[in-house]
Amino acid sequence: MEFPTGGIARELDTSRPGASPGPTVKVRMGEDVWVRNVRAGEFSRCVLISLESGRMEFVLPGDKLIHEMKAPEPKTDDERYMLRALEIAERGRGRTSPNPLVGAVIVKDGEIVGEGYHAYAGGPHAEISALEEAGPKARDSVLYVTLEPCNHYGKTPPCARRIVEERVRRVIYATEDTNPDVKGGGAEFLRKARVEVLRGPYSQIAKRQNESYFKSVVTGIPFVTLKMGLSLDGKVATWAGKSKWITSDESRREVQRMRAASDAVVVGIGTVLSDDPLLIPRTDDAPAKKPLRVIVDSNCRIPPSSKVLNQGDAPTVVAVTELSPPKRTREIEKRGAEIIYAGVGEKVDLKALLGALASRGVRSVLLEGGPTLASSFLKERLIDKIVFFTAPIVLGGRKALGPFEGEGAKEIEDAYRFRIDTVAASGNDLKLIAYYENVG
Ligand SMILES: NC(=O)c1ccc[n+]([C@@H]2O[C@H](COP(=O)([O-])OP(=O)(O)OC[C@H]3O[C@@H](n4cnc5c(N)ncnc54)[C@H](OP(=O)(O)O)[C@@H]3O)[C@@H](O)[C@H]2O)c1
Ligand SMILES: [Zn+2]
Repeated sequence: MEFPTGGIARELDTSRPGASPGPTVKVRMGEDVWVRNVRAGEFSRCVLISLESGRMEFVLPGDKLIHEMKAPEPKTDDERYMLRALEIAERGRGRTSPNPLVGAVIVKDGEIVGEGYHAYAGGPHAEISALEEAGPKARDSVLYVTLEPCNHYGKTPPCARRIVEERVRRVIYATEDTNPDVKGGGAEFLRKARVEVLRGPYSQIAKRQNESYFKSVVTGIPFVTLKMGLSLDGKVATWAGKSKWITSDESRREVQRMRAASDAVVVGIGTVLSDDPLLIPRTDDAPAKKPLRVIVDSNCRIPPSSKVLNQGDAPTVVAVTELSPPKRTREIEKRGAEIIYAGVGEKVDLKALLGALASRGVRSVLLEGGPTLASSFLKERLIDKIVFFTAPIVLGGRKALGPFEGEGAKEIEDAYRFRIDTVAASGNDLKLIAYYENVG
């Protein structure tokens, strides 16, 4: 494949600052391309997608991506079928929480005879759907599944048992299920029943596909993604506080998809007072369950006429402190919103809030600002991932807010460190994904 961009080269010399390759770069899909330099100006013509540990690949805009990741061209059958399983697992995004996304593919004599995915929480597991589709062909087959088959009775009987009953010959799974509640050796059960079990390819991608699930089952704290729309000069609003709209239609559509895939959308009261957002995912493909709308509002200042309290059929939570006036909280409750009391201090205790959300089944939080709330999340090291959409406009103005307000770092050593994961085009904007230190 040929890209007339000149953005990236295989052996780019980073020892020369600003070094850039010639006008045309040839890249074969699936080839190992180590990107050491990036020229932002080229992004509207090709998209860069990061993979495991800094590996990147080109895809053309409009290519269908697996959750912002494009796997390398599969080289073996195992890779090809696992990739297919990862791809179909994506169909459940936004519908399976608190369960993970799972995809399964059954192969017999070099042919796919059954496919399945976990479509919604409480619904059949991916393996069962695939086995049902395969019918008697499941006997002596190979099952590819993105997550280790379960071995416990939940809302449905254990998949491991059914796999044995159907006489599947071999099971290849991408990653273990680290949920302490369900851990209990699906693989071990299968091995004991003389089914061949292998941990297969693409475990990093499988982990990433369920990053919210894995973090929240292990720590009990939801996975927090901070999303913001920025100008080229790093402002999130004009000096007069206007932020509608900084970014392109494409980026705003992407944000709608991100909302639809989240369990909760969180904003500070400052944002409600200035923008009066509705916080509902507006996607063609409506999620089965709309995310919880959460307003962080220590003193319950939210006006009863706010859109979040009056429009959209999604549940709303107003997080306050114990000190907030009961008259106001009662007024808000009358509007059908739930009040969560998080802390007794001046400001909402964010850890307590996340704990309260976790106990309501929230695994993933999309934090949508504003800058004052974002800096508190940052300070408490509660942000796992940042997604910034940077538009090619300059707002300027010393008083215009950046994505993080608050005190900030005095010394460079005091900076909060993130690792850049993905840089991609989003309409005319740049989409940047970064993970906090060792997350991701
Ligand atoms: N471009 C973008 O993506 C984007 C996104 C969002 C917002 N914005 C812009 O940002 C501006 C609003 O941001 P903002 O910084 O003024 O408000 P904000 O971050 O939305 O809300 C801050 C308020 O949240 C409350 N809060 C409660 N507990 C807190 C805690 N633990 N830490 C921090 N705050 C806590 C505080 O008010 P109390 O003490 O009264 O509780 C605080 O003043 C607007 O201009 C909006 O347009 C832009
Ligand atoms: Zn299962």
